[in-house]
Amino acid sequence: MLELVPITDSIGTEVRGVDVTGDISARDFDRIYQAWIDTCLLLFRGQKMTPEQQIALTRRFGEITTYTRSEFNEPEHPEILVLSNITRDGKPIGSAYSGRVWHSDGHYLSDPPAGTMLYAIEVPPEGGDTWFANMMAAYDALPAAMKERIDDLKVVISRVQSRPYNYPDRPAPTPEERAAWVDMRHPIVRRHEVSGRNALYSGGNVPWRIEGMPEAESAPLVTFLQEFSVQPRFTYCHRWQPGDILLWDNRSAMHRATPYDYAAYRRLMHRTTIAGHLSTGSPVPVGEAIAS
Ligand code: SIN
Repeated sequence: MLELVPITDSIGTEVRGVDVTGDISARDFDRIYQAWIDTCLLLFRGQKMTPEQQIALTRRFGEITTYTRSEFNEPEHPEILVLSNITRDGKPIGSAYSGRVWHSDGHYLSDPPAGTMLYAIEVPPEGGDTWFANMMAAYDALPAAMKERIDDLKVVISRVQSRPYNYPDRPAPTPEERAAWVDMRHPIVRRHEVSGRNALYSGGNVPWRIEGMPEAESAPLVTFLQEFSVQPRFTYCHRWQPGDILLWDNRSAMHRATPYDYAAYRRLMHRTTIAGHLSTGSPVPVGEAIAS
């Protein structure tokens, strides 16, 4: 029988009593979907899925999209992005280092993904955890005067600026990448397309700027919001076990992965991504490109 158990007081629901490869009735699925929207994060433990089954499960939540690191898509199933430090014939089979600073997936896109599913196949005995922060709870907890101050502001998200934070091991963007990666303007308070609730969209570790605000005012405001939103009361650290599936709502949660001993241990995760406004019926993308 389906059981929905809160993970912490502020974020996440563990879904029990469900085999994700079996039939999940429409009634049970509606409850699971609502828990995803309400609590940002779903956890299913002890699951075993083929790539086809992961794709089918993801599709129940929305349309699948792929937007990054296509060289690490699973060859037979390009909907699946492989995150792994494993090499085969001397070549990496997946993206070994991703998401080690607080972020929302695809924040540099005009229409960032609605959600991301990670399925753990092999995990290290220590490290390689994933942290989550509930950005709706963070917004709700802001003082009223701060909400009033930020409600209509836009944050300028630069993919070029984020590269050294997200991927310190990778080379600086090339001139071609710099030209292609236009800055994106997003509301710093993001209204959730399904629930209508507000969430902070201020990012985590990259010092974004507020559009039209002098740097001396913008930088401390962004830093305040970023630090405010990852306080322990809004966050949860997931220690992975093989067979875990996590699905996060990228419109209301941020996340970050912790390092592990890449030389000693193996980590293998299959990731699927749910498209943004197209899958939720929102009429317009949430971000706008800024002409350079
Ligand atoms: C990500 O940021 O999508 C990766 C998270 C992880 O590998 O734990």
